[in-house]
Formats: sequence, C-alpha cells, structure tokens
Amino acid sequence: MNNYKRNLITCALPYANGPVHIGHLAGVYVPADIYVRYLRMRGRETLFVCGSDEHGVPVTMAARKEGCSPQDIVDKYHNIIKKSFAEFGIDFDVYSRTTSKVHHKNASEFFRKLYDDGKFIERESEQFYDPQANVFLADRYIVGTCPKCGAEGAYGDQCEKCGSTLSPEELINPHSKVSGAEPIKKKTKHWYLPLDQYEGWLREWILEGHKEWKSNVYGQVKSWLDGGLQPRAVSRDLDWGVPVPVEGAEGKVLYVWFDAPIGYISNTIELLPDGWEKWWKSPDTRLVHFIGKDNIVFHCIVFPSMLKAYGDGFILPENVPANEFLNLEGDKISTSRNWAVWLNEYLQDFPGKQDTLRYVLTANAPETKDNDFTWKDFQARNNSELVAVFGNFVNRAVVLTHKYFGGAVPADAKPEKIDGEVLAQMPSIRKSIEDNIENYKFREALKEAMNLARLGNKYLTDTEPWAVAKSDLDRTASILNTSLQICANLAIAFAPFLPFSVRKLNGILNIEPMGWDDLGRADLLKPGHQLNKAELLFAKIEDDAIQKQMDRLEAIKKARLEAEAAAAPAVEAAKDECTFDQFSQMDIRTATVLAAERVPKTDKLLKLTIDTGLDKRVIVSGIAQYYTPEEMIGKQICTLANLQPRTIRGIESKGMILMAKQIDGTMRVVSPEEKVCNGAVVG
Ligand code: 2FM
Ligand code: ZN
Repeated sequence: MNNYKRNLITCALPYANGPVHIGHLAGVYVPADIYVRYLRMRGRETLFVCGSDEHGVPVTMAARKEGCSPQDIVDKYHNIIKKSFAEFGIDFDVYSRTTSKVHHKNASEFFRKLYDDGKFIERESEQFYDPQANVFLADRYIVGTCPKCGAEGAYGDQCEKCGSTLSPEELINPHSKVSGAEPIKKKTKHWYLPLDQYEGWLREWILEGHKEWKSNVYGQVKSWLDGGLQPRAVSRDLDWGVPVPVEGAEGKVLYVWFDAPIGYISNTIELLPDGWEKWWKSPDTRLVHFIGKDNIVFHCIVFPSMLKAYGDGFILPENVPANEFLNLEGDKISTSRNWAVWLNEYLQDFPGKQDTLRYVLTANAPETKDNDFTWKDFQARNNSELVAVFGNFVNRAVVLTHKYFGGAVPADAKPEKIDGEVLAQMPSIRKSIEDNIENYKFREALKEAMNLARLGNKYLTDTEPWAVAKSDLDRTASILNTSLQICANLAIAFAPFLPFSVRKLNGILNIEPMGWDDLGRADLLKPGHQLNKAELLFAKIEDDAIQKQMDRLEAIKKARLEAEAAAAPAVEAAKDECTFDQFSQMDIRTATVLAAERVPKTDKLLKLTIDTGLDKRVIVSGIAQYYTPEEMIGKQICTLANLQPRTIRGIESKGMILMAKQIDGTMRVVSPEEKVCNGAVVG
C-alpha cells in the first residue's frame, strides 16, 4: 500500500429498485467505510465513490410492480438509499446516479470508442419476444410453472421457491409478464465483448499476479477462466437505459452491467470534472472495489476487460475484497420475499443505534463464508460487549474522575507496575488492528479494538480505584490517569468502526478527533485537562424490542408459508395405509455407486455396481434420462436391498434405487444429506 500516492475506493452501486438492507451494509458498505476512515486517519489521500445503479431489468420490474415509471422508481429509491447511507455514516465523497447526464454521456462515449476501435463483435441471435406487447423479454419477464417443484410464478432464470436455476425453455406454460402472451422467438442483433480474447491476459494479471486476493475471489475467477470465457452481450432490447450510440440501434440500450461500472468513473467526473483523471489513470492510484460475491465476475473479469479494451491508461483494481452473503435468522435475505431488515425501518425502531448495527454486522461479517444475522445475537453483542465492556469501562473511568478529581485528568502520581504493563499492550493491539484492516479482515480488527476495551475494563476491576480512594488518592490518580489514557486510545481504535460513538466519546473526553498515529500513546490526555460530563455511550436493548423484531419476521414467514401452501401444486394422491411391520420389512440401506454404464440399445437404463456395505452388487435403474454414468459414479444413494432380484435386458438386477419423482415426472436420486457409511439402515 505504501508505494501508492492515493486510494480510490469504490462500493458496488446498489440497484435503485428498493431500499438497502443489512446484507448490503454488512457485505459492502460498512467494510468499505471502515477502510476509508482508517486510510484517512492515516493521512492517506483517499476518494470514496458510489452511487445508485438505476438501469436494468430490476428497475423496470419494480416500476411494473408499483404501477409507475422507471424514473419514478429510481427517484424514490435513490433518495431513500442515499439518506440511509448518510444516516449510517457511510462517508462517500460522491453518491451520484447512473441516470445523470454526466453518466449517460460518459457511458455512451465509452461504448462508442470501443465500437469505433473494433473491439466488439456483432451477432444475431434468437431472443424471446412478446408478440402482443411487441417487446423482447428478459428472462425475468417470462414466468411459468417451475418444472422442478411445481411452484407457479417461477422466473425464466430462476425459481425463487426451490432456488433452481432455470432457462425460459424449461418453464411449464411460459407467459410474458408484460401482456400474458406466450413468448415466441425472434431474431435480434447485439454487440458482444469477446471476453475469450482477454483470457490469457486475465490469467496472467490475476492468477499469476494477484495470488494474495481473498480465496473466494481468486477461486471464483479461476473457475471462470478454467471454464473458458465466452463473448458477452453488452446491449439489450429494452426501453430503459443508456441508448446504444450507433446508427440502426433503435430500441436498444447498453446492458446494465456494461454501464454500471462505468458509473464509478462518471461519478468521479461529476465530482471532479477537471481532476478525475489522476484518480483513474495514474499508476500512483490504488483502486479497490468493495462488492458482494455475486458481483465478482463483473469486477474481476468484465469491467477490467472493458478498461483494457479502452486502453488510454485506465488503471485496474489492485484488490477486490468481495464478501460472501449475510442470511437473516437462517434464511437467505430476499427483497421479493420481504425477508430483510431494511435500514430505513431499522432506524425507526432503533433510533440513534447506527453504531450497534455497524458493530454487529462487522463482528459477524460474512468475510470468508455466508453468515447469519439473528436478533438475539444483535442484542447479546450490544448488551454484553458494547454496553458491558466498552461503555461500562469509559463510564466508570469518567464518573470516578468527576467524583474524586472534579473531572480534571489527575496526574500519574503513584505509578505501579500493572499500569505500565497494561499500557505496554497498546502498540501491539494497534499493530494487529492495522494488519487486519490492511488485509481486509475487519472482524478481526474489530475484535482487537474490543480487546483494548476489555483490557481497560479488567484493569479497573483489578485495581479497584473506588476502594483505593478511601486510603490513597495518589494511587487512585494514577489508576484513573491510566484508564483515561486507554479511553483516549479507544477513541482512536474504534473511530473507523463506530464513528457516532467515537464522536460522543471525544465529546466526553473533551478532545478533538485524533490521527491513527496517536494510537498506542500513553500521554494523550495531559494532567489537568478538563473532561465533560459522563454520558452513556451505549444503551441496553431490552427483550421486548427484540421480540417485536422476531414477531415481525415470524409473521412474514407465516404469511409466506400459507401462501405457498395455498398455491401448492397437485401431488400424487396418498397411498393406502401400511403397517409398521410392512414398512420394517423393507431393508433400505445407504450405498455408493462404484461403477456405472449405459445398458446398450436402451435410452433409459443404467447398469450400476454398488457397494451396499453388505455386498457389492449390480442394479439396473431407469435413470439414464436424468443422470450420465459419470454423474452417478461416486454418488451415495439409498437402495431397497431386499427387493426380489429381476432380470432386465439379460442383466440380473438386485434391488432398486430410491428416487424422488417431481411433478413434471423428472427424477432425482435420494441421497443422505452428508456422507454416511455404506450399509446404514434407512428407516
Ligand atoms: O448487484 C448489484 O446490486 C449491482 N447494482 C451492482 C453494480 S456494481 C457496479 F458495477 F456498478
Ligand atoms: Zn421451483
């Protein structure tokens, strides 16, 4: 980091189709804000850029749902999102929008240069089209019955009920969301960025040159590159977006993922019309993109290839510290299912508690794997860490100083070994916070800051100045001096994480915000310095406030389950009752497929050799339409082991494999959730 003169930090531009929620905050905006605050405290020149992503299908879908125009939607949500970020202290230098004039011009010119330089290929392809509304349909605009689970209203790219990835062709009874008509295929022309031509360069730049990137990011990039890149369409048939600036491209706009990252540049231009180039074109600038894991391919492969194609000295990201996802009470956060904690609503229920959320989301950040937010954990971390450790320590130190010394910092009149030992730990805590922040490990960094508060709290408990004061005011003075020095250090260590509480703490200590380099010093408060009145830094969160949130989620879940049950597809009729004895007679066992091959001259049959734990045997199974032999080998399955043998196509089949038949008739094998030993009895 030291070789760079300045830092350009960007955060994924959120879609302006709804408010932002805790998942956004935890994955992208809070870590980026911590990082920027830290860099600024170190005196590094830093620019923090973001804005709303206002084009694309998500916005047109929201407009349709709310019965207004896309412009109405983005106007509404841009303002809500911008306000939320400001309220949570996410301290952008610029928060603009991709519907701005500057962006339209910039994105349009960017496309045009690549077009003029021959960097695109043009291709005709068949796309789904609504013959009644006369519009091409994005996959999201085609709905039908899910072939996997039978849910109505599955999208052409995904079923939200069962999570399956789909293509529009797979939907049962597909119809257009616009008019209800059945989609047809129609030819259309688009421009493609031939990503395959950038593969070698990307390999060298990232796989060779950036082995230090987070393993989730590096791994995803590697698997994209190993899978082979394809040309990617950069235009769409849509009436909302930046028009394609080419003759004969009426009704076509830039693909939202082409224009959005250019938005980072446009927003910089908007802020610094004459000074933006040093941020984007100087090798002295260090560019870091903070994003969620679903954006990795666009920031590590597509946008860099666009910049490379453009040439003209654009810099590439030095790092892309993408996070995984945050779940909410065990379920995936979902805007459409209203399974989220929205920032604007949070502040209505917990006014002034921005830092509690910042703290909990950082302490539990999904840095290396998906993580879960629960209201109980939120309450516990607030009450037993922020209130009981950090807040309690500061409060005790300040209240006692008022009680015994009229609120003036006492001199270190009678030092003892323990004081020096405690203070001596501060430089190593500082080092650890620094190392962790610089390596994008914000949870660890926060833990270290909290360790400093724990250290202070324990020191006060061990030294008991309230008891010592009865007989030795000089010693009390030293203990409080030491404690107050730790308080002042906490005001530095926590500043990147908890800006609101640190502002309050600075007020109580009656000091100006300090720089990072002061962290670790044991002489930040001079004897005689007057403190202000003690105030609680954090307030306890009571059970009823938490219960209210859990009740709200419970009600949402209940309504969803009821709606799903009402819309549940018809399943096969129930079978006649059986006795327990009849059931126990079936010897169902777990087994592993050792070998698999097609039965010659049949479409449906696979010959499987399986290890049942009891023996190795052959089973002929009618699953060749659903599984290739390669997919079956190594799979653990369940088998009815005592079924009478049958000869099928001349092969003796001993037993059968348990399969789940879906409503469209397709079959999936039933496997244990995790690997178990072969021969385990299922029942
Ligand atoms: O995933 C999203 O929310 C996108 N709107 C992020 C865009 S990031 C950037 F490239 F603009
Ligand atoms: Zn489904």
